[in-house]
Amino acid sequence: MKETILIIGSGAREHAIAEALARSPQRPKLICFSGARNPGIAALCAAYGIGSIVDPKRVVAFAAEHAPTMAIVGPEAPLAVGVADALWTAKIPVVGPTQALARIESSKGFARELLAKHNIPGNPFFQRFESLDGLEAVLTRFPNQHVIKDDGLAGGKGVKVCGDHLLSLDDSLAFCHELAAAGHPFVIEEKIEGEEFSLMSFCDGKTLRHMPAVQDHKRAYEGDKGPNTGGMGTYTDADHKLPFLTDADIAAAQSINERVAKALAEDCGAPYRGILYGGFMATKDGVKLIEYNARFGDPESLNLLSLLETDFVAVCRSIVDQTLDQQSVDFAREASVCKYIVPDGYPDTPRKGDAVHLPTQLPPDVTLFLSAVDVKEGQLIATGSRTVAVVGKAATIAQAEVLCEQVVQQIPGPFFHRVDIGTATLIDRRVEHMKSLRSA
Ligand code: AMP
Ligand code: GLY
Repeated sequence: MKETILIIGSGAREHAIAEALARSPQRPKLICFSGARNPGIAALCAAYGIGSIVDPKRVVAFAAEHAPTMAIVGPEAPLAVGVADALWTAKIPVVGPTQALARIESSKGFARELLAKHNIPGNPFFQRFESLDGLEAVLTRFPNQHVIKDDGLAGGKGVKVCGDHLLSLDDSLAFCHELAAAGHPFVIEEKIEGEEFSLMSFCDGKTLRHMPAVQDHKRAYEGDKGPNTGGMGTYTDADHKLPFLTDADIAAAQSINERVAKALAEDCGAPYRGILYGGFMATKDGVKLIEYNARFGDPESLNLLSLLETDFVAVCRSIVDQTLDQQSVDFAREASVCKYIVPDGYPDTPRKGDAVHLPTQLPPDVTLFLSAVDVKEGQLIATGSRTVAVVGKAATIAQAEVLCEQVVQQIPGPFFHRVDIGTATLIDRRVEHMKSLRSA
C-alpha cells in the first residue's frame, strides 16, 4: 500500500518530520494541514491546507479531501482538544495520543497522580489545588524551594520557579491567586536540583522503542540566563547517552516511560500510540520527573530525526498497527548539535518581518529546518518566533558544534542564537555540576 501521510503542524519539528518521512524508500505522498505555510514543508508536500489545527472538524474535513492512510500530529494543542480522536473516528490511524491519553501533558496534576497511583518512581512532593485552601501550609513547608505550575497547557508561561521567577512568599501567593482567579487548577511541587534531559520513546501502547537522550536549553541567553523559551538548541552524543548521565540514569528514565505507558493503558483503557516524551532531571537521588509531553520535543526531534536510520514511515506504521515489537529502531552512532536562530527581542518583544537569507550550499552533515517564517514576494521573512534551526552531525559533540556554528554564522540579520550550546565549556559545567551534587 502506498502511504499518504497527513502532517499536522508547521514548525521546524514538523519540517523534520516531513524530511524524515520523505527519506523513506516507500516514497510516501505527504500532505500538511496547519495554521501557517512553512515553505520547507510545502516543498515536500503534494497538498497543504491552511486552517485551525485545534478544530478537529476542520482537520477531518481536510483529511477527507485527501484520504490519508495515516496522520502524525506535531504539536500538543491539537492532541489536547481531541484531533487524534476525530481522525480515528474518521478511520484515519494517528501517531499521537487521543485526548484522554494526552492528559499526560495537558494536565500536570494528572501526570503526577498517575505516577503516584502506580508507584512509579520520579515524583518530587506535589499537591494539586483547585482553590486556595491549604496553600500556605504547602508554601511554608518548602520555603524558597517550590515550583508553581498551571495544571493545563500554558505555552511555556505556566511554570514559575523559586529563585528564578518567585523571589518571596508574596510572589508565590500572588501567582497562586492569579491562577485561582482565572479559574485554573494548579500544582505546587518541591523544587529539585540537577541537570535536565529529555528521553523520548516511540510507543504503540504495548512496546516502547527508546530514542537517544537529548539536552535542551530553555533559557534565551548564554550561560542559561534570561527568559524561558520553547528551547534554543539541543545536543545528543554518539553513545546515545549524555556526558553528565550514568547508565543507571538512562535505564531509570526508560523504565519510567515504560511504566507510564502501561499505567496509561490500564487507567484509560486504550493504548498510547505516539511519542512519549519524559522531561527528567538527574539529581543526587537519581532521576526525577519534571513533566511529560505527548509529542516530539522541539528542538529535540530535529536532532533525533536527523539521526534516525530506520525507515520512519515503517516506524509510524508499526505504532498505529501496534507492531512495534517487530520493528527495530536504529539511530546513527553520531553526535548532533542543533541551534535555533531567533529574532532580536525574542521571546518577549521579538522583531518581526526581517528577511531571512539562508546559505545556498550546506556541508553534507548539516540540515536546516524552517520554523516561524513566511514568504512575501519570494523572500523568506521571520514572523517573530524561533526562525531557523541548524543541525550538525559528526563523530563528537565538539565537531558537530563547529559544523553547526559555521552555518549559523552564515545567516545574517537582526537575529541571535546561543553560541554556547554544545561547547566544551558548557558541557564541562554540566558534568561538574552533577559530580558536585553526587558527591555531596
Ligand atoms: P515545564 O513547563 O514543566 O517543563 O517546566 C519548565 C521548567 O521549569 C523546566 O524545564 C524546569 O527547568 C523547571 N521545573 C519544572 N518543575 C521543576 C521542579 N519540580 N524542580 C525544579 N525545576 C522545575
Ligand atoms: N523542547 C521542549 C519541548 O518541546 O517541550
